Amino acid sequence: MSDFDLVIRGGGLWLAPLGGDGYANADRSPVMDVGIRGDRLVAIAPQLPGTGRVEIDAGGKLVSPPFVESHIHLDSALTAGQPRVNESGTLFEGIQIWAERKPSLTVEDVEERAIATLKTQAQQGVLYVRSHVDVSEPNLTALRALLAVREAVQDWITLQILAFPQDGLYGDPRNAELYQEAISLGVDVLGGIPHYELTREAGVQSVEQIFNWAVQKDRLIDLHCDEIDDPQSRFLEVMAACAIRHDIGPRATASHTTAFGSYENGYANKLMGFLQRAKLNFIANPLINITLQGRTDTYPKRRGITRVKELWQGGLNVSLGHDCIQDPWYSLGTGNMLDVASMAIHCCHMTGQQEMVACYDMITYGGAQTLQLQNYGLAVGNPADLIILDAADPIAALRQRATITTVIRRGKILAETQPAVTAWHGIPIP
Ligand code: FE2
Repeated sequence: MSDFDLVIRGGGLWLAPLGGDGYANADRSPVMDVGIRGDRLVAIAPQLPGTGRVEIDAGGKLVSPPFVESHIHLDSALTAGQPRVNESGTLFEGIQIWAERKPSLTVEDVEERAIATLKTQAQQGVLYVRSHVDVSEPNLTALRALLAVREAVQDWITLQILAFPQDGLYGDPRNAELYQEAISLGVDVLGGIPHYELTREAGVQSVEQIFNWAVQKDRLIDLHCDEIDDPQSRFLEVMAACAIRHDIGPRATASHTTAFGSYENGYANKLMGFLQRAKLNFIANPLINITLQGRTDTYPKRRGITRVKELWQGGLNVSLGHDCIQDPWYSLGTGNMLDVASMAIHCCHMTGQQEMVACYDMITYGGAQTLQLQNYGLAVGNPADLIILDAADPIAALRQRATITTVIRRGKILAETQPAVTAWHGIPIP
């Protein structure tokens, strides 16, 4: 009889950062064996005694906790071109096209596209996802569909659902009521879009109201905040103030904050101190930020992304999201989190060795912190969720867009992918 259900031999385990000099600690990736019994990691040792019913030889390759997709819109995924293509490439044309697509949503339509997207993500090592769902739509069709999807997929992927008032909490007299109905239907996270409310005052009011509801209903918060190039869009300071007043910083997340990239440095430096007091999480969506923002600039053209490097250097938690996969805002997108981290490395000048490692952490441990996941990571007693990559370390994985060869969920092999093989025939030399 075997000692374990599954043993992974000789993988370079990607352990949690220690904080401080943890990023420089070579021991973050010791070569170890991992023993799994049932759905749990039960043993980690250099040469684990005993046998597994199934054994996988990792051959020194990277064994990592799964990727965390901390920001995606599953309700609009796979709708690019419906009913028309976003020719300007702007956020606001995307919002308009989505408004045209929304009346034709059905529960089946949303479920089918969401599950197809989640499968694409899972086979590439994503096992934790936070999805925004538009709750400005009068029948809450997308929300009902995604709440059902959350249950349907729970054995193979963990899905958090977030109420997102795409057209503004106060953009229409019915929206606040729809939002409260969404809370009562069981969303995990409360969203918002203060920079798209009709006035600055309505934006401030929306942030304060959402924090109040989150405290009353014990929900997490994640707002689309200042997703614009306008340096006067300053709802991040309102979020920081609310987080400090309610003392719930780590439960609140500011997504996008692209205007932070356009703030004058004197203001940005003052704000950074408030953010450190508030302890908010941050999510950048580099694929989308670099393409949607800067559209009204000629040259020099802004990158339109938040201050990822400075937030990370300041000790704040940053994670990265894909945001869109083939939808009205972005007709590309693969679900590959290594693409997302690679774009962050480029757009945010994160090309130092520790900086690239930090970007890998933003799609793993950082994302887990944003989602407030419990028992995430490669430690005895945690759920047996892990991935094996065809690369020796995180930097190699990012450079090569390494294949995720094995995805393990709750102790079972969920997906396996063979790395591409090239047959090189050469060119005959005359
Ligand atoms: Fe978004």
